[in-house]
Formats: sequence, C-alpha cells, structure tokens
Amino acid sequence: MNADSRPLLIAVDGPAASGKGTIARALARHFGLPHMDTGMLYRAVALTMFRFGGDPGSEFEALRACEGVAQVDPTDTELRSETVSSIASRISAYAGVRAALLDRQRSFAAQSSGAVLDGRDIGTVIAPNATIKLFVTAAPEVRARRRMAELLARGMPAHFEDVLIDIRARDARDSGREAAPLAQAEDASLLDTSELDIDDAIAAAIALADEKLAARTA
Ligand code: CDP
Repeated sequence: MNADSRPLLIAVDGPAASGKGTIARALARHFGLPHMDTGMLYRAVALTMFRFGGDPGSEFEALRACEGVAQVDPTDTELRSETVSSIASRISAYAGVRAALLDRQRSFAAQSSGAVLDGRDIGTVIAPNATIKLFVTAAPEVRARRRMAELLARGMPAHFEDVLIDIRARDARDSGREAAPLAQAEDASLLDTSELDIDDAIAAAIALADEKLAARTA
C-alpha cells in the first residue's frame, strides 16, 4: 500500500560538473517524469544580458534580463559557452533574480504528474517537501577533468589548471552567496561520484531513489 499518495517529486542538487544533470535526466526517464534543468533558467538570463550588452555587475540590469527568459531558444548552443556560464554564476547570486525565477520552478515542481528538477537549491528552497532528494558531488579535480573533456568534445580549447581554478571559483560563489547558497538539505542522500563512471552513478542514484520509495510505501 502506498502510504504517501503525493506525486513523485525528485530534487537533485550539486556543484558544477558533478553529474547532477545527467543523473536527473536518467531518473526522469526511469520514473517517467518531466525534467527541468534549472541552471538553464540562469543561463537564459545570462545569455539575454550578454546579447544586450548588459552589465552582470548590476542587479537592476540582471532583473530586466529575467523578462527575456521565455524568448531564449533552449537549444541555443551559446547557453553552454564559458562566457554565458560565467555570467550565470554571477547573476545567480542576486536575490531578485532568484525570486524572479521562483514561480516558474515551483509550478514545474507542482505538476500532478510529479517531476524531477536539478540545480543548486531544489531540495532546500524550491521543493523542500520533495519525496526524494539527492545531493550529487565529486572532488573538484574530478569535476575539472569532466568539464575539460566536455569542452574539448565541443572543440573548445581547455587547460586543466584553468578549468580547475574556474570550478573552485564557482564552488566558492555557489556556496558563499547569501541568497539560497548551494547546500545539502538535511534530508538529502549524498552521492559522491568521484570514483564512479556515469553508468555506475546513474545506477547508484536509482538505487538510492528506490530505497527512499520503499521507505515511503512501507
Ligand atoms: O553546468 P553547471 O553545473 O556548471 O551549471 P548549471 O547547473 O547549468 O547552472 C548555471 C549557473 O546557475 C551556476 O553558476 C549556478 O550557480 C546557477 N544556478 C543556481 O544558482 N541555482 C540553480 N537552481 C541552478 C543553477
């Protein structure tokens, strides 16, 4: 018997290049749920600013760019560029920007079908009542190697030391900001993927989710 009849809501949080996006997509496929990569919202704001020549140092201009989010093509390859990533990391620290993007994320999480969302503050701010919460992480050096392979695969030049410095800077900004800092929710399961390849990481995430579900229905 299912003791909890709420729709299945899965929150996946973690730092840059931890594998949370791939894991969230795999969980969505496995459980047949819609998926939202919330980092894309911040990237869409960043791309809008970049295109209009806005100043990422200005919260006012970042807030104006939030109005353009719906017009950004989610398949635009520029969304994943290093310039846009770096602007996204800066503007995501603004409380006003986070507030402007809140409703979109909360309504996605509230769908009657259930949902999977991945980001930095899903288990803590967006969906604190999620059924399953995973905090996916890996050592900075491992994440830098993964990010480098990703960049090289896209034909972008990358140096390990530079990528590692960038990962550490992003970690510091994500965890150190006042507005919704990156943090493991108290009731989240920790998944360290440092020693796991992607298939093993996905299998481990599904096992953790199944464990939580079994406890819910017990
Ligand atoms: O791929 P990566 O993990 O580096 O980035 P992402 O998940 O696409 O997120 C892009 C930027 O948005 C990051 O710098 C995060 O700090 C920020 N972000 C956030 O503040 N809150 C979220 N829920 C998701 C992303």
